[in-house]
Amino acid sequence: MEQHLQHPIFKALAGIADTHHIEAYIIGGYVRDIFLNRPSKDIDIVVLGNGIEFAELAGKHLKSKVAVFKNFGTAMLKYQDLEIEFVGARKESYRSDSRKPIVENGTIEDDQLRRDFTINALAISLNKANYGQLVDPFNGIIDLNNKLIRTPLEPELTFSDDPLRMMRAIRFASQLNFSIDEQALNAIKKQKERISIVSKERITDELNKIIMSDVPSIGFKYLFDTGLLQLIFPQMAGLYGVDIINGKGHKDNFYHTLQVLDNICETTKDLWLRWAAILHDIAKPATKRFEEGHGWTFHGHEDKGARMVPKIFAQLKLPLNEKMKFVQKLVQLHLRPIVLAQEVVTDSAVRRLLFDAGEDIESLMLLCNADVTTKNEYKVKKYRNNFELVKQKLKDVEERDKIRNWQPPISGNDIMEIFGLSAGKEVGLLKNAIREAILEGEITNTYDNALQFMLEKAKEFGLQPIKR
Ligand code: CTP
Repeated sequence: MEQHLQHPIFKALAGIADTHHIEAYIIGGYVRDIFLNRPSKDIDIVVLGNGIEFAELAGKHLKSKVAVFKNFGTAMLKYQDLEIEFVGARKESYRSDSRKPIVENGTIEDDQLRRDFTINALAISLNKANYGQLVDPFNGIIDLNNKLIRTPLEPELTFSDDPLRMMRAIRFASQLNFSIDEQALNAIKKQKERISIVSKERITDELNKIIMSDVPSIGFKYLFDTGLLQLIFPQMAGLYGVDIINGKGHKDNFYHTLQVLDNICETTKDLWLRWAAILHDIAKPATKRFEEGHGWTFHGHEDKGARMVPKIFAQLKLPLNEKMKFVQKLVQLHLRPIVLAQEVVTDSAVRRLLFDAGEDIESLMLLCNADVTTKNEYKVKKYRNNFELVKQKLKDVEERDKIRNWQPPISGNDIMEIFGLSAGKEVGLLKNAIREAILEGEITNTYDNALQFMLEKAKEFGLQPIKR
């Protein structure tokens, strides 16, 4: 802690506080992160009195511009790579229909009491008399050591003050690998419906932070066990459960999905690849059938799943752009490498996979590897070996045939020129025929071969090249 307090910014703020006889504290996430050894660039300062006035004094001293948010009673300035936010200590009460508080001035302890968790309510004094002293009236340090998310107030009050905190509790548990105190957990279960007053964007921000944690299943299990997941993302909660017919069950797709997600998190920090892991089996409940003599099947779950992606993205206010398309593509293709791994691999199947996956082939292979969750050591080994074969095959075929960023060797314009056609059905048919011939390995991916093939094919359509 000493080392952090040596930063000139704190010396400067301490000087201002003493000159103007104002009590000032560093508070919240920055203090928590000092003890967790997580470097942070966001500093919250709380003063007994007017936060905006203090920020303006600091701005003058540091020659920094101050942004004032009058409605919230807060102000912010940037200093080097730090973002510093100022607020007056408050004694808050919230209205039940909104997240906007009614605010009164309070003591430092009043302010700490109204914060979300004890680990986020730690404060460090900036005044000369007790510079650097930790103010911890709610035993935040003990909770940090016990890895516990606990509220300073009665949890029901803390969560009803701001229902987003239910998501935050779970997000911190997932990010820090902490447990949620039992009383707090019960309060979330009781008040889960209040999440409806929180905007979808803020909920999804927290969800994405859970997904970006090292072991997101921690957060998702809490979301499911409290009943929040059923409200904010019912399609995922719907993966839970096992049906049994004639003594035959299938695997629980919720826990399978969580395992796939945790697995993929070991290999990628790409949020969207992690989303693909979450959604890869999303249509299993909708496509589930029990077939006599065969057992459980989920035919077409990859197609239906891909079709569900845009709706889920829209519902969660995730971007409806190329990120969504990427997730959709991986959901659509997630079985393909597995199929290749099980059968004798033909070159044409490999070329087709390269053509369909394009640039995203590596991501797809990561997803497929993560999808192997069987406990059977023998099967795991077999799958992994086969995947290595598929990977080698992908590499060989790509080196030879350059399918991955496939551009037709003969363009639509070339076709129109050669046959004197205007844009129309024939052009499309010829282009498709060339592509199919290349993917099937009938011809190589070169202009000359494609031209020869096309001239032959054109005869079937009664087309003649025009004389030049
Ligand atoms: N806070 C709160 N209730 C909220 C949001 C924030 O009590 N709904 C308080 C907590 O004391 C928190 C501080 O405001 O530590 C700053 O909030 P924020 O910047 O959102 O979170 P951090 O705790 O700094 O954590 P992170 O940066 O990981 O989001």
